[in-house]
Amino acid sequence: MSQTVSAPAEAPDRTQRIRRYLMCRPEFFTVSYSINPWMEPAHPTDTARAVAQWQTLYDTYVALGHKVELIDPQPGLPDMVYTANGGFMVDGVAYPPKFRHAERQGEEPWFTEWFRANGFEVAGPEFTNEGEGDFLLAGDVILAGRGFRSTDDSHGELARIFGREVVSLTLVDPRFYHLDTALSVLDPEVAPGQTPTIAYLPGAFDDASRLILEERFPDAIRVSDADGAVFGLNSASDGKNVFISPRATGFEAQLRERGYTPVLIDLSELLLGGGGIKCCTLELRGGAK
Ligand code: ARG
Repeated sequence: MSQTVSAPAEAPDRTQRIRRYLMCRPEFFTVSYSINPWMEPAHPTDTARAVAQWQTLYDTYVALGHKVELIDPQPGLPDMVYTANGGFMVDGVAYPPKFRHAERQGEEPWFTEWFRANGFEVAGPEFTNEGEGDFLLAGDVILAGRGFRSTDDSHGELARIFGREVVSLTLVDPRFYHLDTALSVLDPEVAPGQTPTIAYLPGAFDDASRLILEERFPDAIRVSDADGAVFGLNSASDGKNVFISPRATGFEAQLRERGYTPVLIDLSELLLGGGGIKCCTLELRGGAK
């Protein structure tokens, strides 16, 4: 009787794509108000530690060949370090944020001005949206979060401005209030018509959104609740290196199985504000070099 022995599945080779990011040194970081369940103003924060952890992320990006631009931090805007919320851009067109909470609205003109000064065409915004915190480019489509911060109207505005399909996904767990805390796109560039690999935390989404994700991304990495709870999905990827929290050990193993190289960066101090690696990283697509 013949026996079928299946060869161990080979992890595919992954290709790094050089990225261009916008970051903001957390010189004024503190937790003085609470607009998400992670923020406890009574809990002391250490700004020097936040800066040192942030610096490690910055240095790691640069050491791996990425180009990192900086926007000046502003006193009184402690959340400005989370530049992912500073906008969303494709092909040199930037859609600035319109923050849900008054505490962050002072950031809007600084980001808008930065885009103008750096060769981006600025479009909108008319509606409440929190940039790449809620909008993630996944191949040809834009995945868009709703439920806590960005509104449905902003999803429509996004579709009009960028002329792309926008797939709305509903977040239901207040700990995962931005899409980038619950879903990560692992391949920042794919050929037209191709689907990138994504990773997500199923429990952060409502049933309808989970179905959409299963249908569109059958090969996705589904991350455990334990890894999600330490902000494991709040990660950046260049297609090969995936920058994740050292606490997300299960996700780390899943990434290795798929041929990615996890790069562990601890931003525990910035987690006190409810943000992690991806929150501190805005992807720049286009604009002057
Ligand atoms: N304290 C910030 C807020 O609540 C954290 C933002 C985190 N950013 C992100 N892209 N998830 O708005």
